Amino acid sequence: KRILLVGAPVDSGKTRLGCLMGPDAYRTARLGGALSDLGHEVSDLGNVRPDATDVAPRPGLHELPLTIGWTSALSRAASEAMAQGMPIFMGGDHALSLGTVHGVAAHAAATGRPQFVLWLDAHSDFHTLETTDSGNLHGTPLGYLTGRSGFDSFPPVPHPIPEDQVCIIGLRSVDTAERNMLEKTAIRRHDMRDIDENGIAKLLGGFLDIVAAAGGALHVSLDVDFLDPSVAPAVGTTVPGGATVREAHLVMEMLHDSGLMTSLDLVELNPMLDDRGRTAQLMVDLAASALGRRVFDRPTPRGL
Ligand code: ARG
Ligand code: MN
Ligand code: MN
Ligand code: MN
Repeated sequence: KRILLVGAPVDSGKTRLGCLMGPDAYRTARLGGALSDLGHEVSDLGNVRPDATDVAPRPGLHELPLTIGWTSALSRAASEAMAQGMPIFMGGDHALSLGTVHGVAAHAAATGRPQFVLWLDAHSDFHTLETTDSGNLHGTPLGYLTGRSGFDSFPPVPHPIPEDQVCIIGLRSVDTAERNMLEKTAIRRHDMRDIDENGIAKLLGGFLDIVAAAGGALHVSLDVDFLDPSVAPAVGTTVPGGATVREAHLVMEMLHDSGLMTSLDLVELNPMLDDRGRTAQLMVDLAASALGRRVFDRPTPRGL
């Protein structure tokens, strides 16, 4: 496969700084080397820079103009990269997905493929500019991308992701406003209890079957806080009770076996909070699993 590494040092999606160092932490942990060792052709396209905007700041919303500048720049970078291969967006906080998913969806629309999104996250990130109480825009991308109203100064969303083409796995921190809105949607959502009771392979396998049947493109957005903080401490929004190392690898291995993943975000890594690079290394190892690293070949367990 031809893989494009795209640095997205977005740090405007919340107040705590540090995610801007994420792309270089992935480079230092040899993300590119791990993927070329698997036989892929890897190019590092360097870091994207935010567009200049004349949008006015809005009280109560952290870094709105800069986040909008990132959204338009990353959307362009994403649709351009999609034309060349499989992009891996090295974040950067989760606000970067406002742009990356916007761009991959435009590419899918142009090529006539339905776009699906798998969101691996403790949080649902389903706020709008009106409902967020933190004012942190990393909590809004799924609201924007599914076409919710209240994103006035942002680029329009001509290709919203249909709700039933979105699947969130790993939920354990959902704000009341998000819950009330989510429950009215067809977004597929699996909280940690669902994983405990059913096993993550069954939940993911069900969604992958739907993507495959539709001939869809699949964007995967992996938030570090999907993982349990005991194994992935380098994130500002840790929530206890997250996915284990093995659950996360199984997801990635199944994604590889499915052949469905067309783009990937690695988000919310804050190297300032890491412990000797272990979170960066785990994220690199997970990306490698998603691109074919395995111990032995075997059929993926499906429909357990
Ligand atoms: N729901 C919270 C908020 O809106 C937390 C969002 C966390 N998002 C993330 N991408 N880590 O502030
Ligand atoms: Mn997130
Ligand atoms: Mn999160
Ligand atoms: Mn909130």
